Amino acid sequence: GFVMQETLRMYPPVAVVPRRTVRETEIFGYRIPANTSIGISPLMTHYLEEWWSEPTRFDPMRFSPERAEHKKHFYQWLPFGGGSHKCIGLNFAEIQVKIVLFHLLKRYRIEAQPGYEMPYNPVPISFPTDGLPLRFIPLAE
Ligand code: HEM
Repeated sequence: GFVMQETLRMYPPVAVVPRRTVRETEIFGYRIPANTSIGISPLMTHYLEEWWSEPTRFDPMRFSPERAEHKKHFYQWLPFGGGSHKCIGLNFAEIQVKIVLFHLLKRYRIEAQPGYEMPYNPVPISFPTDGLPLRFIPLAE
């Protein structure tokens, strides 16, 4: 569970959520007129230094009950969006990921090259740009 949460933090599949302002507002001193297209970025929010310790480090245990780093703000961890249009498939997505990983990890040891860093493109939804070269080594039955 923590590994999936941390993966969704570092590589949110939906990096930017489009919205439109319904009335004029001001954010950080910028005036935003009514009826303006804006983007809300989970990707950026997930790397804010003031909310996450070492945001560029893969650290699943930041989601453990003892540390619960993601609970400082209601909209701090938002790979599934937030508010009234929050993803309705989030529990289904979690179950799917766990089932697929369970079957893969039961049969294979999965390796990347030592020091491998995944190049990726967050638009339109996040994907590795190099085809994700991994080795699947079958485990003995
Ligand atoms: C890891 C997998 C998934 C991610 C990261 C994800 C992400 C999101 C995000 C960010 C939104 C909010 C969009 C917005 O506010 O404009 C959303 C909405 C939605 N998602 Fe997902 N989703 C995932 C899986 C699924 C699955 C498996 C289903 C259905 C089986 C699903 C169905 C929906 C629907 C219907 C909405 C629209 C809800 C509404 O507008 O009220 N999602 N999703």
